[in-house]
Amino acid sequence: MQNQQIAKHPDKVHGPVLGIETSCDETGVAVFDSGCVDPERGLLAHRLYSQIAMHADYGGVVPELASRDHVRKLTPLIRQTLADAGLAMRDLRGVAYTAGPGLVGALLVGASAARALAWSLDIPAIGVHHMEGHLLAPLLEPDPPQPPFVALLVSGGHSMLVEVAAIGRYRLLGDTLDDAAGEAFDKTAKMMGLPYPGGPALAKLAESGSSGRFKFSRPMTDRPGLDFSFSGLKTQVMLAYRAHADDPAAKADVARAFEEAIVDTLVIKCRRALEATGSERLVIAGGVGANRRLRAQLADVAQREGFRVYFPRLEFCTDNGAMIALAGALRLQAGLHDGPEIKVTPRWDLETLPAIA
Ligand code: KG4
Ligand code: ZN
Repeated sequence: MQNQQIAKHPDKVHGPVLGIETSCDETGVAVFDSGCVDPERGLLAHRLYSQIAMHADYGGVVPELASRDHVRKLTPLIRQTLADAGLAMRDLRGVAYTAGPGLVGALLVGASAARALAWSLDIPAIGVHHMEGHLLAPLLEPDPPQPPFVALLVSGGHSMLVEVAAIGRYRLLGDTLDDAAGEAFDKTAKMMGLPYPGGPALAKLAESGSSGRFKFSRPMTDRPGLDFSFSGLKTQVMLAYRAHADDPAAKADVARAFEEAIVDTLVIKCRRALEATGSERLVIAGGVGANRRLRAQLADVAQREGFRVYFPRLEFCTDNGAMIALAGALRLQAGLHDGPEIKVTPRWDLETLPAIA
């Protein structure tokens, strides 16, 4: 079942919109003022509470603990964020919340809070697609990208190349056949005994590794197409790592070679996607977008090949409330909103979203 965004409310929302993100292990809250023409200045306040320390003991996200912690943290975070923005509850004109994809229990916490608030304030609310939030995050930066563009969305759950004809009009160009890029980082890091979340830990270790000692394949770059597959890479890394278990320097060198393989693969596919669509603008978003090697390499290729690449600031690559407030505000501003029921969509196809006219 898809969320239906019905334009039955005649009002187009102009003014402060509260954004709530609770799809996984971060509680994010923000206020975005859709009355502000310039998205960069529309962000009035944002706060994040990360549950990483709580899940670290288990080596990954424990869904039930995540839901309970969102319950504990969300209300105080909303109060604090509104205070930061210098606003009272009654100043809000709309509420946006992540309705999917994500962990069902965690999503329900944000959706219930958002729906209750909207009901009590008699304002519209809208369920936002988490990946649309990521995709639009670069719009919060100075000199934001204008559609059409190509977006590489690389997070813990997704690796997608998307053609963005307009905000809300998305065509999937490529997807992962197995592990997402972030998932490959996390699983490989875990196998190498690094702490959760593995992506940043592995990237840090890779900085001290030397290039060239190990070489892993660039999966699916030897054939046409824009899909990804990262699960085989994990096995290659495991074999190399185990074969050099008695060499302390090998760990960083393996991490370096793994990161290079992932980054090269992503860069090759981005260039292909730009070529296939004739686009000259590339947007990078999602947690893996915080990877420094990926950012540096793409900036370098963009300069050499004459396209532009746009990144969100590091804190808006990973999950946050600002991207949800922005995505929701753009939809509410266009007159879209959802019915009053509390509904989440843990699996949700980005291509089915209604365009923002
Ligand atoms: O977008 P995000 O915060 O959550 C999801 O929607 O999944 O992405 C989290 C993912 C995790 O897999 C994490 O390990 C990865 O992004 N990540 C990184 C880096 N920072 C976060 N991967 C590689 N290098 C990083 N610097
Ligand atoms: Zn995310």
